[in-house]
Amino acid sequence: MCGIVGVLGNHEAAPLLVEALKRLEYRGYDSAGIATVNNGQLDRRRAVGKLVNLSDLLVHEPLAGKAGIGHTRWATHGAATVSNAHPHKAGPVAVVHNGIIENFRDLREQLAAAGYAQESQTDTETVALLVRQAMDAGAGPVEAARQTLKRLHGAFALCFLFDGQEDLLIAARKGSPLAIGHGTGEMFVGSDAIALAPMTDRITYLEEGDWAVITRAGAEIFDDHDRRANRAETRIQIDATRIEKAGYKHFMAKEIAEQPVVLAAGLQHYTQGSADGGVNPALHLPEGVDFTGVDRIVLVACGTASYACHVAKYWFEALAGLPCDIDIASEFRYREPPLSPTQWAVFVSQSGETADTLAALRYAKEKVARVVSVVNVPTSSIARESDLTLPILAGVEVGVASTKAFTSQLMVLALMALKAGVDRGRLDADALAGHLAALHALPGLMNHALGQSAEIAKLAEELARAQDILFLGRGPMYPMALEGALKLKEISYIHAEGYASGELKHGPIALIDAQVPVIVLAPRDALFDKTVSNMQEVMARHGKVLLISDAAGLAEAGSGTWATLTMPAVDAIFAPILYAVPAQLLAYHTAIAKGTDVDQPRNLAKSVTVE
Ligand code: F6R
Repeated sequence: MCGIVGVLGNHEAAPLLVEALKRLEYRGYDSAGIATVNNGQLDRRRAVGKLVNLSDLLVHEPLAGKAGIGHTRWATHGAATVSNAHPHKAGPVAVVHNGIIENFRDLREQLAAAGYAQESQTDTETVALLVRQAMDAGAGPVEAARQTLKRLHGAFALCFLFDGQEDLLIAARKGSPLAIGHGTGEMFVGSDAIALAPMTDRITYLEEGDWAVITRAGAEIFDDHDRRANRAETRIQIDATRIEKAGYKHFMAKEIAEQPVVLAAGLQHYTQGSADGGVNPALHLPEGVDFTGVDRIVLVACGTASYACHVAKYWFEALAGLPCDIDIASEFRYREPPLSPTQWAVFVSQSGETADTLAALRYAKEKVARVVSVVNVPTSSIARESDLTLPILAGVEVGVASTKAFTSQLMVLALMALKAGVDRGRLDADALAGHLAALHALPGLMNHALGQSAEIAKLAEELARAQDILFLGRGPMYPMALEGALKLKEISYIHAEGYASGELKHGPIALIDAQVPVIVLAPRDALFDKTVSNMQEVMARHGKVLLISDAAGLAEAGSGTWATLTMPAVDAIFAPILYAVPAQLLAYHTAIAKGTDVDQPRNLAKSVTVE
């Protein structure tokens, strides 16, 4: 949450800061601001709302200077107002911040007692005031920042800019990611490498507790004991074209449409080579993915990623007979669940930076045989702190509502479950080949599902009028019902809930009337008859059912539904990967029909780095 950026450049900083902030807007868009030093003078511009408002302001009130910092905000402390917008300034220092300073109330009281009053409601201004206080007491900028960092508790990434200092940035990382970019005679700071991609591909990631003194000549990095630290410079590969809309109206539409290609590439990567010397694909997972001797796993994540874990539980248990617990990260760490040295803990995260998931990982570390992560960003904190990482290879996902990352997480988890099945002697070569063939068929089937977009858009016109919508599914389609509901509420703001089909009669059926659409996700599988019975119970109460099934299922279900959507027939166990597509398209088109902001829905952010 919140994106920060810093530039020590040879050209005007403001356009570079705005360009970098554009790439960080996925982290929040409640307000944006920049500060620069020009002719020794520190000045700033801030605007409420999306970055475009700041750009407009800069047209009328430009900000010159080759050194600057910038921020895009997801509000935590204080409403989205100009006075709460970053950069925060106190005397000779301006600061941008991502994260939460947990002890800011105590610090604010101490500062107030010393005569340093705060203008905003933020925790960040406290940081600026602490630096100012230290400088008033005679410390130089570096020493003032160093002293201030020692007083802060919580999770943060910070970047400081100083009055009269056109060749100095100070950056610090504790709990929130921060990257330093190396140019030629220029230096940069960013919440992630993508923000810096137009400027440089040479990146140094700060580690936990690190802080850095940055000039155009380079960065001096110190660890949390203020010892000089060597952190490697890496060249990152970010294909700039992949973060364009490529002709689509929204990133979400592009990312939904990309899924067949992304999944095919991921499968190709993880099933290269062959068991039989030619035709059939074989599992090709990293060497450490060996479940021999593993007697249990726990899968932990948040939001959509947790629904991927929920689906995978069915797979680990059905394909490998491996007991599998699932938990949402924010509950897991505080429940302090017992863990054993013969089990694995698997953390699933698109961003790899989700604060709750990272904290859960740290809780599990040293308690389990192996900490494994399934992430989209291989350089992320979660990846770096794991014993073993499986990248989902989805490419940059910009739309705040996760789509291709979800199906890519499912793909990697499915392959892990198959490997567990092989390692535990549950799957022989024929069974494995059959399952791999089913997975390889999915990209083609997803293309077919994408072809239903226009039909789904028509249904969405009607769904957009609903106040409440229910999603039903059984077996591995139950978590898909949860995910379908989450996707819809996130971007259309319609209240939606997912239920296990069999659970409806235990309470939620009270909600059913002619105004409540019920979306049933039901491939023709072994449980189909039972789902149809539950659907009949809804229709008997005038519920408006949209049945999404294959041709065989639709024929068997008979009449009485409000609408149907035909999916291609699919291997039942992996059906959630295919049925993600209509669920995503329903959410997308309903949001379009309602005119909401699809890529940047209200109150949300792509990377949730606060608890
Ligand atoms: C929903 C969505 C969120 C994320 C969740 C975890 O569309 O994207 O629910 O899945 O915030 O984020 P990551 O996967 O980055 O840990």
